[in-house]
Amino acid sequence: MKNIAILVYSTHHGNTRKLVDAIAMGQDDIDVFDITKEKPEDLSQYAVVGIASGIYAGHFGKPLVNYVKTHLCEGQRVFVLYTCGMPRAGYTNEIKSIVEESRCVYTGEYGCKGHNTFGPFKLFGGTGKGHPDAAEIQGAIDFFVGLKFKRMKVK
Ligand SMILES: Cc1cc2nc3c(=O)[nH]c(=O)nc-3n(C[C@H](O)[C@H](O)[C@H](O)COP(=O)(O)O)c2cc1C
Repeated sequence: MKNIAILVYSTHHGNTRKLVDAIAMGQDDIDVFDITKEKPEDLSQYAVVGIASGIYAGHFGKPLVNYVKTHLCEGQRVFVLYTCGMPRAGYTNEIKSIVEESRCVYTGEYGCKGHNTFGPFKLFGGTGKGHPDAAEIQGAIDFFVGLKFKRMKVK
């Protein structure tokens, strides 16, 4: 039985997936679910749930949002990861509300820039090329380690 599930929706460039993979690498206590491919029916075995997404029109990926609305279990500790074109406050508000409504504990969030070639941005090679970069990925690992859910090796 594993302790931590990370649910990821990362359809644009796999930017958010990079953060998740760095956190989960070599960790035998973490299950990662790409929600575009696999939606576990029951998350109740997990004490901790990570919710990870790119930002699309100001929101976390809709399929992920809809999934967590109906699958979080009371008492679970939840952390959030995201990448976006333009960092600003508020991207996590909807998820925070769902976590509270589900009577879970919101333990923290980490967000950083991600390469964005959506719409007109692609004409110029996009914004945030090269992001998340090594420092941002390390930032995600440090954030996770700081939550102290488990001991893990730090690169
Ligand atoms: C359809 C679409 C809408 C987007 N809307 C926003 C937005 O509202 N705000 C923002 O900061 N970035 C926006 N972006 C940029 C993405 O959040 C950014 O590229 C992110 O790193 C994508 O993550 P992913 O590669 O994990 O899917 C948008 C990208 C796409 C494709």
